[in-house]
Amino acid sequence: MNDMTPTREQREAKLEGMGCKRKRVEDIRFTQGRGQYVDDVKLPGMLHGDFVRSPYAHARVKSINTEKALKVPGVLAVITAETLKTVNLAWMPTLAGDVQMVLADGKVLFQNQEVAFVVATDRYTADDGINAVEVEYEQLEPQIDPFTAMDPGAPVLREDLTGKNTGAHGPRKHHNHIFEWTVGDKDLTDAAFRKADVTIKEMISYHRTHPSPLETCQSLCSFDKIKGELTIYGTFQAPHVVRTVVALIAKIPEHKIHVIAPDIGGGFGNKVGVYPGYVCSAVASIVTGKPVKWVEDRIENLTSTSFARDYHMTTEIAATKEGKVTGLRVHVLADHGAFDACADPSKWPAGFMNIVTGSYDFPVAHLAVDGVYTNKAPGGVAYRCSFRVTEAAYCIERAMDILAQKLGMDPAELRLKNFIKAEQFPYQSALGWEYDSGDYHTAMKQMMEKVDYAGLRKEQAEKREAFRRGETREIMGLGVSFFTEIVGAGPSKNCDILGIAMFDSCEIRLHPTGSGVARVGTKSQGQGHETTWAQIIATEIGIPADDITVEEGNTDTAPYGLGTYGSRSTPVAGAAIAMAARKIKAKAQMIAAYKLEVHEDDLEWDIDGFRVKGLPEKVLGMKDICWIAYNAPPPGMEPGLEAVSYYDPPNMTYPFGAYLCVMDIDVDTGVYKVRRFYALDDCGTRINPMIIEGQVHGGLTEAFAIAMGQEIRYDDTGNVMSGSFMDFFIPTAVETPKWETDFTVTPSPHHPIGAKGVGESPNVGGVPCFSNAVNDAFSFLGSTHIQMPHDYWRNWQAAKALGVVG
Ligand code: CDP
Repeated sequence: MNDMTPTREQREAKLEGMGCKRKRVEDIRFTQGRGQYVDDVKLPGMLHGDFVRSPYAHARVKSINTEKALKVPGVLAVITAETLKTVNLAWMPTLAGDVQMVLADGKVLFQNQEVAFVVATDRYTADDGINAVEVEYEQLEPQIDPFTAMDPGAPVLREDLTGKNTGAHGPRKHHNHIFEWTVGDKDLTDAAFRKADVTIKEMISYHRTHPSPLETCQSLCSFDKIKGELTIYGTFQAPHVVRTVVALIAKIPEHKIHVIAPDIGGGFGNKVGVYPGYVCSAVASIVTGKPVKWVEDRIENLTSTSFARDYHMTTEIAATKEGKVTGLRVHVLADHGAFDACADPSKWPAGFMNIVTGSYDFPVAHLAVDGVYTNKAPGGVAYRCSFRVTEAAYCIERAMDILAQKLGMDPAELRLKNFIKAEQFPYQSALGWEYDSGDYHTAMKQMMEKVDYAGLRKEQAEKREAFRRGETREIMGLGVSFFTEIVGAGPSKNCDILGIAMFDSCEIRLHPTGSGVARVGTKSQGQGHETTWAQIIATEIGIPADDITVEEGNTDTAPYGLGTYGSRSTPVAGAAIAMAARKIKAKAQMIAAYKLEVHEDDLEWDIDGFRVKGLPEKVLGMKDICWIAYNAPPPGMEPGLEAVSYYDPPNMTYPFGAYLCVMDIDVDTGVYKVRRFYALDDCGTRINPMIIEGQVHGGLTEAFAIAMGQEIRYDDTGNVMSGSFMDFFIPTAVETPKWETDFTVTPSPHHPIGAKGVGESPNVGGVPCFSNAVNDAFSFLGSTHIQMPHDYWRNWQAAKALGVVG
């Protein structure tokens, strides 16, 4: 080795592979305003479409008069349900096996429902056209409260389902009932409750909220009549699924559909569903022969595209007097709005709600979920969560605190007593999941040590005494939460969307000079895939991450994949990337063996190439192998160096974490201050620690928003009360607390690189942590459970109800 020969550390550093805090390569364009979003795409002759929407939550549409609108200069077409019927698209299938009106067909079922689509030369003219459309409504009694939706006298919402006693998920009990889903052993669970020393029961609601990404939902469709081809630019988290669904519904051959999801400004589940805007812009393009763009505004986004949560969970725990849990019983009333458009894998009408046993060793459990229709917007998306995991984590984490309170035990101690132990993994849960790996005790103890949990409890006890003595009007809460996520949908035997199996894919093509391109079936919406996918490849095959271009989102070039949501990208596509890289490495090894004139088994991998075992000077680097693969491959070997992998994971991955929140609340004003927030996450092997930290910061900020104020609220008539950012809480840098992050590493045993997902974990663990802090603060005043969101007003109301303010 001479002085110029790079050291092992230098060679490794050059790769910027896994474990490196590589800077996000996509940020070069994002921070310079050079991103290419749907609204940046402008096609020649492009028209603009916008919706006439219903002011009422429940009404009969007696007539729609489009005459005046069509006379507005620049308005080219007004599409109604009658137009859509001519192409059999007045209703569309939902992801949950229901059907949904694309445009009002005789009735409207929620405020701001799409009634007609006006197509014009520009957006302003489309708006003039909207104002000229005359719709005659007859108001009907709205059903807003999910708790009375199944009353005998409740109004019939879905007249199209009259006489249908069975839905996509079995029998329907009432005209507003969608499904009942049960999991677990009811008899054994009931028996555990009969034998229990202690039981708790609480109705724990997770209110309706909305993902509200920075960029709203949008599409631009262009139908080429000559070629019979449809090109769709859209804000799609799963472009390939969109292509297949369009092919099936619109009967256009799949190879004649080109779906392109360019840069996306946040998704959080909002961009998984299929919305009337997508369908109408496609039909409008077919009708007019011109490209048609649809861009939602903020109010439309908040009030009509997919909401999240709205789960009302009656939760019971049975336990011994020493605090060992013996049974869990949960009934969920799920408000799905006007259509069941939940974005869950087909077999899971309540998503992965059956992860509700959480991180605890419940011997028996039973879960029942009833879905009901109401006059609210449809949806039920996994807002930064893996199919209802957030609801499940909130439910169990609140319930564990309530049990601790009843037992007079410390909430952290109760958790430590009931955790699944490290040696129990792989662990079979009472509700049917096989947890792949975990070390909960270590994580919890690390959290307790780092924050000085004992010291904080002591301080809290002193503050409570001071409050009782009247020396302060401030109360202190310690929120503990420990969550287990389930991410990486999924094994195709368990998970599909409309029959499309849930796997993912990667194609890597290396070029002769030693750089390459990786095309992946996922679609980043800000998570930094262009950065991290290249890091996996860099470590696997020794090509620097900077020399790998990552492409996603174009169905013409990327291999078929199921997209990005539910933190599935790393568990599924991340594995496909590693497997494709390993196929390349296997071919590279054959090439190296031939060139170095040894048997393949005599070679070993060394950072960025192969070396002959025992002969450190006999090496062949990957860059050279790339050249040889194209220009001088071994006799009989095909030239080229590329591989594709379709990965169907054997199981989900189960990230987990231990969080703590310290909060002070002024009882006279309800004003709270998050004094400290500590988040320990375990996502197995960490690909990019900086990106993970960013994901955790983002997820915690959303969790903070949801727990402390963010809500889609309706009045009794079905008016949306929080339809703009004036009323819908989006924390800015001013309100957002400072985050302290930490980690442990428990690799997934079945994932090729041991990685688990992380993007959603902080939302899953964060919401119960904030809520537990508020509830813990009030608990010494006699309160058991205060419903979210915990804004100032509700905190003040809680203090008033407890008699501590006049
Ligand atoms: O599916 P989605 O991309 O939303 O979530 P994810 O798989 O949890 O990944 C979010 C981001 O964190 C990606 O850029 C991942 O590569 C990165 N990540 C990581 O660096 N290490 C992990 N163990 C998990 C995710």
